[in-house]
Amino acid sequence: MKKKIRCSILIIVLCVVTLKSNGQVTPPMGWNSWNKFRFNVSENLIKETADAMKKQKLIDCGYRYIVIDDGWQSKSLGKDSLLLADEKKFPNGIESLVDYVNALGFELGIYSSPNKLTCGGYPGSLGLERIHAKQFSDWGVKFVKYDYCPARNKEKSNSGELILKRLKAMHNALSDIDSSIVYAICEKGWVSGQIPNARSYRKQIKITPQNRKELFHWAPELGTMWRTTNDINPTWGKIMQILDSQEGLATLSGPDSFNDPDMLEVGNGKLTLSENRSHFSLWCILTAPLMLGSDVRNIPDEILEIITNKELIDINQDKLCKQAEKIYDENGIEIFLKPLLNKEMAVCILNRADFAQDLMLKWEDLGVDEEEMILVRDLWLHKNIKKEGKYISTKIDAHDVMVLRISKN
Ligand code: GLA
Repeated sequence: MKKKIRCSILIIVLCVVTLKSNGQVTPPMGWNSWNKFRFNVSENLIKETADAMKKQKLIDCGYRYIVIDDGWQSKSLGKDSLLLADEKKFPNGIESLVDYVNALGFELGIYSSPNKLTCGGYPGSLGLERIHAKQFSDWGVKFVKYDYCPARNKEKSNSGELILKRLKAMHNALSDIDSSIVYAICEKGWVSGQIPNARSYRKQIKITPQNRKELFHWAPELGTMWRTTNDINPTWGKIMQILDSQEGLATLSGPDSFNDPDMLEVGNGKLTLSENRSHFSLWCILTAPLMLGSDVRNIPDEILEIITNKELIDINQDKLCKQAEKIYDENGIEIFLKPLLNKEMAVCILNRADFAQDLMLKWEDLGVDEEEMILVRDLWLHKNIKKEGKYISTKIDAHDVMVLRISKN
């Protein structure tokens, strides 16, 4: 009997390992066209983006996937229900674009939907999952964003079971055809009938940090990453709203499984330098996929400095893949702690107030046992901090952060 149980456990473990064996252990990093360019995607844009990402050494920081979001497709399907790229936007087709980005060391990503139409009204992959997965794989695409679009398809009353069946159909097709493809699910809570942050669609159940995880309990088994919110925009208010809606999701995160609070808006809109720094830092400690969303062909130096902060990226890419949790929340100061390998940890102190604050925080508030000899490093100043006494004192500007890496000496 015991033998039988052990055997079943082994089979289950093997299944999980083989089902998701795309080798993407840490959060995917790259660029996605949507935040900045919406449907205005083209071969030239993608090539120029790849060139710029190479030139600015973004590739050396780990930014690897270049993802074309919605709008790359032609308005109708081709022969045998194949997806066609819009001929005007992509005159040489997707395959040659894959060759182009591959030659520079990147992988190409693409977008489709488990509906008849995508959110932008282009043909989706519903019922054609195997055909389209094969097509993506034949082209050499290594990342598929799969976006559930009920409103566009007037399907708002679909059951969770049905939605899950559709998401699984693409999961199974990709796993069978090319398991090295990253499967990025974007359903925002529809499976459970809940849309975080979108009041108009919300059912009566109140989403709290205690029950929020139930919205996405099915996701780690299917996707490398799954969207946990509705769409981001480049405003401080929205970024804070998304941050709040990540509370309670940390235990879903692990190697090859990531909550996705949406693509980065760093460098977009009117975010201040402090806000850009906070947004990037928070996504890093949330162990979120780092998908750049600005026009990387024209990045101001101070923004480039943010997105290439290797010490912060190392925190995001830590192999333990644990997502930070909030451990302190008082007077507009919030502290998040992310456990790292080798008993190290990252601590992010966020000042949400609209004014600078002088802080005297107990090391204890940061989760630091002061009896232990520790090394504290400020990841924005790139300097070690001397630990003297029970307190750390600092000043943090409005909407800014301090990020520390704490390790034993
Ligand atoms: C949805 C997604 C966005 C983007 C658009 C494209 O709104 O949430 O990230 O992919 O669709 O139409």
